[in-house]
Amino acid sequence: MRHQVKPSADLATRVPTILVFDSGLGGLTVQREIARLRPDARFVYCADDAAFPYGRRDETEVIARVLAVMERLVAAHRPDCVVIACNTASTLVMPHLRRHFALPFVGTVPAIKPACEQSVSRMVSVLATPGTVARDYTHALIAEFGQGCDVNLVGSVHLASLAEAVMRGEPADEAAISAEIAACFVENRSRRTDTIVLACTHYPLLMATFRQLAPFPVTWIDPAPAIARRVVQILGPARPTAEVPASLALLTGGKARAALAPVFSSYGFAETGVEPLPLH
Ligand code: DGL
Repeated sequence: MRHQVKPSADLATRVPTILVFDSGLGGLTVQREIARLRPDARFVYCADDAAFPYGRRDETEVIARVLAVMERLVAAHRPDCVVIACNTASTLVMPHLRRHFALPFVGTVPAIKPACEQSVSRMVSVLATPGTVARDYTHALIAEFGQGCDVNLVGSVHLASLAEAVMRGEPADEAAISAEIAACFVENRSRRTDTIVLACTHYPLLMATFRQLAPFPVTWIDPAPAIARRVVQILGPARPTAEVPASLALLTGGKARAALAPVFSSYGFAETGVEPLPLH
């Protein structure tokens, strides 16, 4: 049974702080959906850029890293709710986080259930990091919710970094992106893939390019709106507020801080700081 922690009782009278965490910038695709439903909230966004990408790290390393960063963030920012906006981390660390902290945590995991429910051709691809593709958690989701669909797991080594480059202002490397998504598009004699799950929060950042490069049209599933609705279930709906509180974006490495300040500002973050947590 899922371990439920109730949010603090005084939330009806004050602005909640929502901590959104990812290895990099992908979690912004989740944060922007939460901000649509809770524009009155204060956001602290942390990109663990000192350890990016998580997708190629081994499981014990990811668990230890997320717990260490979270220890610091929770102590410093006292969030009312924490969103792990990273599939690579969520498919591993949620039970550990819930054991360590008495806070509501919301994870981001591959949207296999809705994809298999809506696929007409019964051919679904899951585009994710190599870590997420290898997880027992992902395989258990397919066993439980696959509904007899052919589920094709595609582990992409470079796509999260390609999305980060675009966010830093570099042109999209279309040849490289095409090569990374090609295995998602499967055609048999009478059927072909009609639904692709974006199972890494970085990938919706490249949505327009994916659509343009797709060899045939498909439905792309981004779980971010569902995650935002889950946060509202926990914290309640937006309240009228005279002033939107300043939100803070943090980088654990901080090398790209200057280049990323305009990106964070376009997502509504007034301040970009560095929470130094170098990888040792
Ligand atoms: N954004 C992360 C996810 O949703 C992955 C990026 C990485 O490999 O660090 O899986």
